[in-house]
Amino acid sequence: MLVVVHEDYDALSKKGAEIIASRMRQKPNLVLGLATGSTPLGLYRELIRLYKNDGLDFSKIVTFNLDEYIGVPPEHDQSYHYFMRHNLFDHINVNPSHVYIPQGMYGDIKISSFETNPKIEQFCTWYEDEIKRHGGVDIQILGIGGNGHIAFNEPGSSLGSRTRIKTLTQKTVKDNSRFFKSAEEVPRYAITMGVGTIMEAKELLLLATGDGKADAVKSAVEGPITAMCPASALQLHRRAIVMTDKAAAAKLSAEFITYG
Ligand code: GLP
Repeated sequence: MLVVVHEDYDALSKKGAEIIASRMRQKPNLVLGLATGSTPLGLYRELIRLYKNDGLDFSKIVTFNLDEYIGVPPEHDQSYHYFMRHNLFDHINVNPSHVYIPQGMYGDIKISSFETNPKIEQFCTWYEDEIKRHGGVDIQILGIGGNGHIAFNEPGSSLGSRTRIKTLTQKTVKDNSRFFKSAEEVPRYAITMGVGTIMEAKELLLLATGDGKADAVKSAVEGPITAMCPASALQLHRRAIVMTDKAAAAKLSAEFITYG
């Protein structure tokens, strides 16, 4: 695992985008794994700049997003479909038929993580198959939750898990409530790639900024490998880069760190 600490958010975003752009130049039909959340926004802005100013070509890439809320329609401004359109896809020349984001709407079916639901299971199997059909994810961008989650793999998620429905923890529901008008609107469930799915990407690029992530980064990089910190699974990956700013790296032992 390569841990690189950058001066600030801007430097980290630029370097992250440079890595993605260089992989795209090496392989124009790159299979790119995308994440949502505030952390990758700077990286996406930089990719848009590279498209507009440097002719970075997205026309042949294929993208797979990590997750989506269940019950939030794609046109809702808090859906991850909306997030991706607004913050990246509307501004680059990606082919819409190459874009994969988990489906969050299943009509009136009863949603529960205790009961299997054929419609959702079918979708999850299809999503995994589509990733395989495209030869697997070449590089996966990741953020990290304050509790060490990656995508919506909350603490306790099996490290071998695949794409599935996941009940969000109370902490995540509370963290998200500020984005929704009423408590009833805050999603309780999500579809997420599993830790096992993520670990099959050929390369991982995890971004973390701010002191609110310092404990999670320490557990992910130096802690034991445990389902209680799903991001700690990255220690087993052969090509994982963890990029942080100084605040998110504040609790790391200095000997691991490379300065970017
Ligand atoms: C959500 C997303 C994660 C993301 C996390 C952190 O839980 N499902 O993919 O990493 O939020 O978000 P932020 O980058 O805003 O801190």
